[in-house]
Amino acid sequence: MSDETPLSSPRVRAPRGSLVVAIDGPAASGKSSTAQWVAQRLGFRHVDSGALYRAATAVALARAGEHFDEDAVLRFVGEISLRPVQNSFAPTWKGEEMEELIRAPEVTRLVSRVAQMRGVREWVDAHVREAADGCDVVVDGRDIGTVVFPDADLKVFLIADPWERARRRLTQRHGRAPTDAEIADETERLVQRDAKDATQTVQAKDAILIDTTYLTQAEQVERIVSLAGIFRGGGPADAQAPET
Ligand code: DC
Repeated sequence: MSDETPLSSPRVRAPRGSLVVAIDGPAASGKSSTAQWVAQRLGFRHVDSGALYRAATAVALARAGEHFDEDAVLRFVGEISLRPVQNSFAPTWKGEEMEELIRAPEVTRLVSRVAQMRGVREWVDAHVREAADGCDVVVDGRDIGTVVFPDADLKVFLIADPWERARRRLTQRHGRAPTDAEIADETERLVQRDAKDATQTVQAKDAILIDTTYLTQAEQVERIVSLAGIFRGGGPADAQAPET
């Protein structure tokens, strides 16, 4: 890798030879879209680890209905692959991308259970590390800075007020401003999900905490790109405006 590569200071170079930005945080904190955008700005690849937990859940659900156990999930995950797509990776099943399947409400309802399964966590970690092998990556999830890449070059932990997370999620889902009653319901669901995912949603000691409650997504991205610039040993990274 040339010294011009972003984040290329030897001081922060991971032993694996390429660079990792880890973005962790709770549900609906904007991790994945922020990570995708940051990756574009830095010219890195984006890996969404949550998409793999969702893919495992979707395939288990399709193959065995709701009453699957860990052994069943581990039998089915062998059918999932990760396909490089532009600057990202998409889980595929039977040769098809799974985006719609993995975002289905039943998958969202069951995925926390699957994410507790130790063998599934090992399967996801191995796939994420493999995807990241040999390229610079922005990886988002819950435990990227603590378990998957404890030596990541830059670690960010995103948080936001649950009400604001619920408001953003509903706006994205319905393409309109939600009512207060809708936000209240969604906030309750999010808080329950936070509780289910709490064990693995851990801020690394050396992660930089960013509260995005009052930030736009562009501002979140800007902060992380600037942090990448500081790690590079200069001023803010001088990347171009993102393509949205
Ligand atoms: O971020 P998300 O909603 O797509 O995550 C889906 C599920 O996977 C959620 O229950 C948290 C879990 N997850 C995890 O346990 N560890 C990760 N690194 C990423 C996601």
